[in-house]
Amino acid sequence: MAQVSRYNLRLAQASRYNKDVPKVTFSNLNRTVEFESGKLPYDDHGKPESLLDVAMNFGITLEHACGGSCACTTCHVIVKEGTDGALTPPDEDELDRLDTAPGLTLHSRLGCQAIVKGDVIVEIPAWNINYVSEGGGSMNLGDAIPPAKSLPPKDIAH
Ligand code: FES
Repeated sequence: MAQVSRYNLRLAQASRYNKDVPKVTFSNLNRTVEFESGKLPYDDHGKPESLLDVAMNFGITLEHACGGSCACTTCHVIVKEGTDGALTPPDEDELDRLDTAPGLTLHSRLGCQAIVKGDVIVEIPAWNINYVSEGGGSMNLGDAIPPAKSLPPKDIAH
């Protein structure tokens, strides 16, 4: 009986561990990182603990031409596997922006908007990796950056 209790305790600890210490695998870079939820230092890379924020914290280059403000698609990633609720769901702004992403798939996300909540495996599109490895950078993307969304004119109170 004590064996079963100890086993159940270990199972509970293991599931808590996965939730509180999510693992992010960047599959085509052969890199897996993990961090304690709520404890990742934030340096203005998209939403706190987003895939972009996680990547930047661990020295993994993920292009982010607009600085993580959902105004480009250069942080595009493809989710290969994820536990239930491993990423926050996309909001309307992210979905609208994703519609303009080259190589869009049903599992595409913007790295700066998808907040990590559990274990997830993502792939960075090859064109993005090639671009960065060939010396490209946020300042040189030119036409790859779609124009910012136009906002409706503000009402002016008189
Ligand atoms: Fe521009 Fe994510 S960095 S949308």
